[in-house]
Amino acid sequence: MDQKTRWNTTGGNAWVELQAVTDRALAPFVAPLLDGVEGAVLDVGCGTGATTEAAAQVATRVVGVDVSAPMIEAARARTDKAEFVVADAQTHGFDERFDHVISRFGVMFFDDPVAAFANLGRAGRQLRVIAWRGPEENPFHLAAERAAKPVLPDLPERDHDAPGQFAFGDRGKVERILAEAGWHGVEVHELDVECTLPASALETYFTRIGPVGIALNDHDERTRERVVAAVRPAFEPYVDGDEVRYVAATWLITAHQ
Ligand SMILES: C[S@@+](CC[C@H](N)C(=O)[O-])C[C@H]1O[C@@H](n2cnc3c(N)ncnc32)[C@H](O)[C@@H]1O
Repeated sequence: MDQKTRWNTTGGNAWVELQAVTDRALAPFVAPLLDGVEGAVLDVGCGTGATTEAAAQVATRVVGVDVSAPMIEAARARTDKAEFVVADAQTHGFDERFDHVISRFGVMFFDDPVAAFANLGRAGRQLRVIAWRGPEENPFHLAAERAAKPVLPDLPERDHDAPGQFAFGDRGKVERILAEAGWHGVEVHELDVECTLPASALETYFTRIGPVGIALNDHDERTRERVVAAVRPAFEPYVDGDEVRYVAATWLITAHQ
């Protein structure tokens, strides 16, 4: 499934359904993302608009762009303080120049990241984006697929170099992409953040979001129950009372034109 289809169907729908859960889990990234951000702001891969809404509190003008129609619909319902566009940020011709281009986990899905970041360089002067470090540093995000594998043997192996969650895991690759795309002063800093979700939402989370969630769209209720039984214990180390806690190992990436 290509990224545009994924985010307009199963993937995007799950993020809309779990908006409150992902908003809470990723809320600690809002402050580092917006540090020093002002003026006109473009939020790339803005999803359901949590960071776009937050940016609207510090910026004079904010536009959120996302390839997912259902996620942009949710973003528009969230706030009228920002403008939202359904478009592919890799190729969309932005008809204004922004002071800041920001993104929380919205820039790892490009087919041609150099061309995409060159396009974003025409759209804005300062870049400030957050992306995942490698899978080995983010075991929470692999727990479901590892534990589900015996029940879902056809679950595709992740290609961490292909467009997707961990496509920016390698620091050198990120630096090369941005330099080739014409960005200057590239800095890639480690940003480790503790995230939480309600323990009551854990089962919905791992059966709706990520590769297991996508795969379960094609399986019956009986298989879903077997997956839950296999996967639930794998999250036990992360459960703390009524919360699930994990450390998100990410990059804070900055650059300028
Ligand atoms: C992991 S979600 C993050 C959403 C949001 N930034 C947040 O932090 O809640 C990734 C987002 O990137 C969007 N996306 C993927 N490829 C894109 C592209 N080529 N152009 C614009 N948005 C894209 C997806 O539709 C999705 O909303």
